[in-house]
Amino acid sequence: MEPNNPTFDRLTVDLGNRSYPILIGQGLIAGAGRHLAAVLRGPNTVIVTDEHVAGVALPALERSLDSAGIGHRAIVLPPGEATKDFAHLEQVVGDLLAGGIDRKTAVIALGGGVIGDLTGVVAALTLRGLDFIQIPTTLLAQVDSSIGGKTAINTAQGKNLVGAFYQPRLVLADTGVLDSLPPRELQAGYAEVVKYGCIDMPDFFDWLEANGTDLLAGDPDKRRQAILTCCRAKARIVSADETEQGARALLNLGHTFGHALEAECGYGEALLHGEAVAIGMVMALRLSARLGHARGNDAARLAAHLAETGLPTDLSRLDVANWTADRLLSHMLKDKKTEDGRMTFILCRAIGQSFIAKDVAPDPVASVLGEFLSPAA
Ligand code: GLY
Repeated sequence: MEPNNPTFDRLTVDLGNRSYPILIGQGLIAGAGRHLAAVLRGPNTVIVTDEHVAGVALPALERSLDSAGIGHRAIVLPPGEATKDFAHLEQVVGDLLAGGIDRKTAVIALGGGVIGDLTGVVAALTLRGLDFIQIPTTLLAQVDSSIGGKTAINTAQGKNLVGAFYQPRLVLADTGVLDSLPPRELQAGYAEVVKYGCIDMPDFFDWLEANGTDLLAGDPDKRRQAILTCCRAKARIVSADETEQGARALLNLGHTFGHALEAECGYGEALLHGEAVAIGMVMALRLSARLGHARGNDAARLAAHLAETGLPTDLSRLDVANWTADRLLSHMLKDKKTEDGRMTFILCRAIGQSFIAKDVAPDPVASVLGEFLSPAA
């Protein structure tokens, strides 16, 4: 536990006077109070979490806040993507206001991407902005969604369409909590780890090919090394392009395809976000080859590694009998990044050489989707 073994890594997201630390290490939740005390402006906090995480990590966080003399109460929400909606946003804001807060009250997101994204919107809107702390408890949230201030909820029209860039004051990634994650959840988060290798770190992709199954099996050193590498990459990218005017868009590799798959699956258990990103990345590499940008067969290399770790790389696990390429395309055309009917994709010349393609026409995309929908054709 961290109080007896206070070794953790510290990175900084460098955004001038809104810079903030990312702490990474085993047992950090048990010592969270003193790390929070260093950034809090007032004595009170409200923890937003979900029913699963409340059973695993909330008591340790509460004890730690108690020992640091920090006031707290908890709002516990249902788990799952459906919680990231207007109804729960209204519920949490209402609960905060009814329970008594002031502008120095901090909101703590204790959970995965759903809790982090929703809580970020709550923090951005309530009293025109409350301090916000991210304590991510999934691999996906630790390596990606908790860092960089993208907050959002979903609407009937699509995923993450309402939100704000709103940076936390601290990200505290306790690698120990990953031990309690269901294996499927861990695998789904691993897709976002692989993403960093594909974007601009080919050596990291090589390392993952050699070590990925060990870190998924629980090797703590390899796990921490991978999380540290990803957080360092994310901090670098966000520090250079906070509001996604340029290079930050590379972090969307696999997401334009992935969001369309998630929309078609109804954002449920059939396809987790990270699983959609895994398939989406393979689709993006296939599209890169189709458009003549990629030589070689890195799509197959990527698919082989993802499959080795148990992630899906095609649509065979899904019931796609009624799916069409046109329907998937219609989801993509609603993507935030579509302009004048031309879609933005992150493509790769090779693994580790990604780039932004802003004017991709629908036809080649439909052709790649068709191959995935009818693989034998
Ligand atoms: N998850 C992508 C980003 O933070 O930009």
